[in-house]
Formats: sequence, structure tokens, C-alpha cells
Amino acid sequence: MSTIQNQTQQTGLFQNEYGYFTENGREYVITNPRTPRPWSNIISNGDYSFMVSQAGGGCSWRGNAGQNRITRLFQDVIKDSWGKFIYLRDRNSGKFWSAGWKPVMAEYEFYEVRHGIGYSVFTQQVDGIRSELTVFVAPDAPLEIMQLKVTNNSTTARELDATTYFEWAPGFAPDEHREFHKIFMNSEYKQDLNAIQLEKYLWSFPDEKGRSNNVSWPYTAFHAASETPSSFDADKESFVGMYGEESRPQAMIDKELAGNSGRFGDATASLRVAINLEAGASHTVVFTIGAAEQEKEDADALIQKYTTVEAAERTLQDVHAFWSELIDVEEIHTPDPAMNIMTNVWLKYQSISCRLWGKTAYYQTSAGYGYRDQLQDSQIFLTSKPELMRKQILMHASQQFQEGDVLHWWFTIRGGGPRTRCSDDLLWLPFIMDAYLKETQDYDILDEVTPFLDGGEATVYEHCKLAIEKTFLRFSPRGVPLMGEHDWNDGLSAIGYEWRGESFWVGEFLYLILGNFAPVAAKRGDQVFADKMVEVQGSLKAALNKYGWDGEWYLQATNDDGLKVGSKENEEGQIFLNPQMWAVISGVADQERGQQAMDSVSKHLLRDHGALLLYPAYTKVRRDIGYITRYAPGLRENGGVYTHAATWAVWAYTLIGQPEKAYEAYSKICPPNRSDDPNGYVGEPYVTPGNSDGPISPNYGRGGWTWYTGSSQWLQRMATNWILGVRAENEGLLVDPSIPKDWKEFTYRRAFRGATYNLHVDNAAGVARGIKEIKVDGKVIEGNILPDFRDGKEHEVKVIMG
Ligand code: GLC
Repeated sequence: MSTIQNQTQQTGLFQNEYGYFTENGREYVITNPRTPRPWSNIISNGDYSFMVSQAGGGCSWRGNAGQNRITRLFQDVIKDSWGKFIYLRDRNSGKFWSAGWKPVMAEYEFYEVRHGIGYSVFTQQVDGIRSELTVFVAPDAPLEIMQLKVTNNSTTARELDATTYFEWAPGFAPDEHREFHKIFMNSEYKQDLNAIQLEKYLWSFPDEKGRSNNVSWPYTAFHAASETPSSFDADKESFVGMYGEESRPQAMIDKELAGNSGRFGDATASLRVAINLEAGASHTVVFTIGAAEQEKEDADALIQKYTTVEAAERTLQDVHAFWSELIDVEEIHTPDPAMNIMTNVWLKYQSISCRLWGKTAYYQTSAGYGYRDQLQDSQIFLTSKPELMRKQILMHASQQFQEGDVLHWWFTIRGGGPRTRCSDDLLWLPFIMDAYLKETQDYDILDEVTPFLDGGEATVYEHCKLAIEKTFLRFSPRGVPLMGEHDWNDGLSAIGYEWRGESFWVGEFLYLILGNFAPVAAKRGDQVFADKMVEVQGSLKAALNKYGWDGEWYLQATNDDGLKVGSKENEEGQIFLNPQMWAVISGVADQERGQQAMDSVSKHLLRDHGALLLYPAYTKVRRDIGYITRYAPGLRENGGVYTHAATWAVWAYTLIGQPEKAYEAYSKICPPNRSDDPNGYVGEPYVTPGNSDGPISPNYGRGGWTWYTGSSQWLQRMATNWILGVRAENEGLLVDPSIPKDWKEFTYRRAFRGATYNLHVDNAAGVARGIKEIKVDGKVIEGNILPDFRDGKEHEVKVIMG
């Protein structure tokens, strides 16, 4: 049987016509490059990053992709035509193709892409020549490695060459005024290094005196080969040819590359290496692309260190070890393979590699951190490296003004960003503190001193307190928090602009924060503030229930004119998801109202592909509400399944005592479960999408905005903390599963305060909730909180449900 037949007969996990997961879920294997959208991998070491699609498209950056791009890409998820390409050519027949499908899109005998954790592998066979291209970022250096192994599977000796090609785009991106920017670039071929190096004498920042266009890009970018190239080129015109195309460039007609470089062309990079292979023989060549910071790093040294076959192999092993530390410390085994794959591998990877580090994907290029966004994302480090969450918290605390408000987002290079009048941003700091403190008991963090943006400094405790105090100043006469420019839902951008509209959701969010932060204040001896928080909590609960209850569910808001939003009285946008879930999560709703609110969610919002953010979607523009009403109906915040919020339904259903619904809300947004309809869903089955279209859209269920979404961390947390029900409390690790009744058992291994807990949960009784007995290291314990060992050792925990 031939290899190719083997391939089609193999059935992988969640297999469809485009691909499948490998057995342990650590790789997604794409077998057909014509996926319905780019199915990509976002690879980062926290500094240097790139994205790469199944077709071989993508680009690279350092720090962030908006201020410090290295290679060029213009957003286009349809053509996916920008990349860092390698062409292969038979020098005798003249036939050429590319090691990824793009840009040549040649007929192939075999094509497969394996997206893994920190790497992607493109395997292809054309005309008996097999190529295996492995791409990854060095864990501790600002560069990427392209390891190309070429094998001659034909019966005759072959004379081949491999030619790289990409466009430089150093600094701000997109640099759409190309004719301006190209004049500042200078490329040089360094023969002794087998490398092209590039500098740009412009980085679009003003200098220290405020003089514009007076700063050089402080990096030296490079592209190198592990062996002597037969030729090189650093100019687009000679490589592609005037009026040419990347799919059939002049360079594939010419025997050798043109050898242009310097200041007067259009900067690209291309190296050609000859590969002569006897039948059956293989050869590996390594290429690197990177950017060295001139003041601190030496481009020549980096090239020499990493651009060898041995270094590439060693670095790939380092990549595996690097990611293992972040991924493998927490592992579940449940009867649900989608939950296992996503929880054990992909959600952690998505949150860290893309959301926190790369900050960019095919659907969004971000140059910064969102105040609320990456605080939430950083919870992903709690089970592996809480010190990285700590770092993130300190970073966000420093983005506050003395008055207590914060930047909505800020640039990660040189800072700065919009100071908005949004009502919830500032509150995410005290919100997130609860999860951090419960996990780590690191109360010292509250004494860390970080600066304000407008001078002076304060402890983290004071930063949190200021955020809460600022919110206390923003209440309506009815005692409900004001909406301001918007709340968590950015698209409610006009509703409370004049500081009269109210947000019931902010009220609930604040209620939860006050309940958690009051004991923290008391513990520090700030009893006055603790008492104040408890007092406001009481009046808030009353106001929210009095003015926010619409009969069967909670209102989202009132606008500046006092009109209700999210009410049965409205024609569109009658019910919003957030105020229902958070009434339960926060404890604002009593049991009966909570049930009723969540029953309304079940009735109106929980649909085929998860919980809609609101229903019915706005079809008419409402100037008094904001830009959500301007989105196509059913898309994103306008009545789509906004995955970030849809995850919280799991939390609320669990708390209200509806484990079946919790699991339903989870399963419907767990991406591998959409594998049976890849052409309808279109997104990658291994990462969460930002949204999927709501029922009013002709593309109901279509996923979009994948990878760069705050849903990944939350979906992870929903599985572990709320379905498996293992979560940190001050006293220790609480065990309180809410699982499908037919699960016979599950296991969960997790680090907690330095010790490792190996949980085995037995559900022979067939219940959804309830614990009969817990044994820790062979001894029965009282209650369901596991002891706080902090001893660095492994502990066996046997839980019997019933
Ligand atoms: C985007 C923002 C996030 C916001 C959400 C809802 O994802 O990054 O901060 O809460 O939209 O509007």
C-alpha cells in the first residue's frame, strides 16, 4: 500500500475533509491546503513572533506587529498571498513549486501541514521530490528558523535549488506609503555570513525633542542560510520582474538571482541554494530570519549561532521543552476528547502564544495590550507560572491615572493609548486580583509600588482601591453605576456618553468585586474602606433588583434619555446575555431570580452554537446605542455568539445548579465540536473564534476572528474550575464537580502553591454533582477543600461522587 493511500485511510480525531487532531491532540494535521479560511499557527517566544497559515502565508514581528513589523503582510483572509516563501526548482526541467502551497500552488502528490505547539511542519511531494519545512521561533533569541529537508524520492539523480523570498517591512505596519518608506531602507549582502542584512533609517516615532521622522529603526534585520548561496537578491523588481507575480517570478526563469542590494531598490530578501540529490538522497538546509536590537544584540553573532543544521535541530528540541513547562503542568482526562484536547494543549497555547505574546493573528493586528483583555488572559498562567500573571498585573496597574481611570489600551512599545470614559476597564484590576490572591496567597503583591501615568506612584492595593473609588463617583441618582462611554461591550459606544445612562452589568460586576475586595481591605486594616464596600454592596443589590429587573430577565442598560435597553419593551435587542449571567455570578440575583434569568437565557439566547450576546440583533442603526447597531445583524457583538461572553454561561449555569446546561453551553463553543461542518464554520477547529454568526445571519454559525480573542483563557477556566469544579480558595483547592451524569470518571493533575495534586474522580454513582468522600494520600478528609500542602510534593486525591 502506498503512503498516500495510508494517509487517506487513517482516521484521526475529529477528522474532516481538511484535517484532524493527532491522538494526544498536540498537533492538528491539515491534509488539504484549500481550507475554507487560513488555518494558522501563531508562534511566539514572548518577544519575537510570526504567524503562518496552512498555505504558507504569514509575516513576522518583534514586540508587536503594529509598531515593529519585520516582514510585510496586508490583511486579506481570502487571498492569503503574503508570506515568507521558499521555492523549489528542478534546474533541468525548469519546473518550480513552493515548499508551502503558496505562492505557486502547484499540483502535488502529497501535501500536509502539522500545526504544533511552537512549530509548524509543511510536508509536500511534487515530481518525486519530497520537502519537509519546519518553522519555529528560537525560545531565547529574536529570530525564526526555517529548516528545510529535501528528499529525492524519484529514481534518477536530480539537480535542484531552493530559493527564499519575502518582503521587508521594518517598523510601523502597514506602511502603505511604500514609495516613501522604501527610500529609508538599506540592504547588504554579507558573503562571509551567507546573509542579507537590512537597516532602516526611519522609525515613525518623534525623537526626544519631538522632531518627527528623526529616529532610525534600532534593529538590524537579517536573513541567512546555513550554506553558501549560489546567488542572492534583495530587490523586488529583479526578483518578481516588472508586472510579474510571486507565483511565477522572473527569478524562477533566471538561472541565478540578480544580486541587487543597497539603498536604491525595493527591499526584499532572497537566497538561492543549490541542492543536488542522488535518487533516495536527502539534504537539509537551514534559513533564519530575525532582527537584532543594535544596542544590545549582535546580528552577526545571532546568524552564526543559529543558522546551522545542528543548531536548528537543538533549538527545535528547546522549543518543545519551553512549551512543555507552560502546557504540561496541568492535564485532564475526561470522556470528552474535545475538552481534553483544548484544555490540555490548545487553549493554553492560544492564550499565551497569541493573546499575551504575539498579540496578532490573521483577523486582527494589535500593537498593544487592552487594559481588561490581557489581565483576564494572564489567568492562564495561574496553574503553570503565576509569576507571569504577577508581572502582567503590575504592568496594568501602571496604566492608571491618579484619578483612578486607566488607558483603554496602550502600545507595548513606548506606551500611550486612548484615555476613554469607559465604565468597566479600571475595575478589572481589583477583579483579577481575587483570582491571583486565591491561587497564590501572595498578598505581598498589594504592597508593590507602581507609577501612575500622570506622575507619582502608589501600591497595587491603592491602585485597586482608586479604581473602586472612582466607580463610586459614577453612580446614577437611582444608585446604579453609569455606563459612560461603554461597558465591557465596547460597541455600546453612544448609550451613556452624557453620563446619564446606566449599566446594570457594571453594577453586577462591581457587586462581585466589592464582595471579594472587602475582606482584602479588612485584612490590611483598611476597615473604613472595607465597611464602605459592604455598605455600597447592600444598596447596589437593592437598586439593581429594583430598577434592573424587567420581569423575566435583567436589563442591560438605560441610555442617556432614560430608555431601557435589553427589555421586553424593545423591538430589537430585547435581552442581553451579560446581565443575566453576572446577576448569578455576582450574587446580585437570589436563587429564584437567578433561575428565572438563566431560564430566559436558555429560552432566548442559548442556540445551536452557543449563547448569543443579545437577541434579536439590531437591524436598524440606533444612534442612541452605539456601533454594535451598525454591525451587520448577527455579527460580533450585534447578536452573534461572542465567544468571550459565551464562555461565562458555563459559570452561571453551574452556579445556579444546572450542570447539563453548563455542559451544553460549553460543548457548543468548544471548537473541535464544530469539525463536522468545516465549510459552514470555516474557522480552525483547534482555537477559539472571537465570534460566530447569530441566527439572523445568512451564514449562521460561521466562525470568525480566530486566535486573537479573550475567549481562550476563559474557556480553559470554565472546563477546569466550573465543570471539573476544581478551583482555588483561600483555604486550599476546592473540589466541586458539575459534570455530565454519564461520565464514569475523570482525572485532573494540577500544580497548586508549589505542590502537585493528582485527582481521580470516580462517578460510578452516575451523578452530576455531589461528593461522598475525598481521600488525600489515603486519608479521608472533612469537606471538599484539599489541604494546602505547599510542600513541593505530589499528592494523590481520590474523590468519590454520589
Ligand atoms: C473586544 C475587546 C474587549 C471587549 C469585547 C466586547 O474583544 O478587546 O475588551 O470587552 O470586545 O466588546
